[in-house]
Amino acid sequence: MTKDKSAQNFIALLQLAYSAERAAAYAYRGHWHSVVREDERIRIRQIEDEEWHHRDLVGEMLESLGAHPSRRREIRALVIGRVLGVLCHVLGWLAPMYGAGRLESRNVSEYETAARYARDCGREAFIDCLLIMAEVEWEHEKYFRSRVLIHPLGRRLFLWPAPPSKEMIRESFARESEEGLELAGASC
Ligand SMILES: [Fe+2]
Ligand SMILES: [Fe+2]
Repeated sequence: MTKDKSAQNFIALLQLAYSAERAAAYAYRGHWHSVVREDERIRIRQIEDEEWHHRDLVGEMLESLGAHPSRRREIRALVIGRVLGVLCHVLGWLAPMYGAGRLESRNVSEYETAARYARDCGREAFIDCLLIMAEVEWEHEKYFRSRVLIHPLGRRLFLWPAPPSKEMIRESFARESEEGLELAGASC
């Protein structure tokens, strides 16, 4: 993939992530208000804060690339996030936990992919921050999976595939980068 194409993909993915964080944060705001257990309220509220923080970081990256959030995605995220937040109050305990875990597993790979685009378009300074966000999303997925599994019905459900271990986020990134360098060296 050319450097320009990677840069285009990188900006498109950051725009998507920026708005997705907004939807997630609003949904979690409704979610933590809807649960009764204090430990769950605290943890989901912390997850909401982490999504807002991610959004700030992604917004700074977009700005430094001279790009802007997508207006259309922003409006959509606001509506989706608010609707999901309200639905958490009517769908019971299990469905929001299940839905959140499933979405979080996608977020892990989204930030891993963004780190690869950053590397490929020469924005190495962003890589560590993107991998840290992938690791935080990994913790979110782990939390919601653990919640689903404490529910008798949740244990019988077909769960989304478990992501590889948290350490693999950095290991696979480093391995791929080394392989890429070796290939580039071999073709010289
Ligand atoms: Fe996030
Ligand atoms: Fe998350």
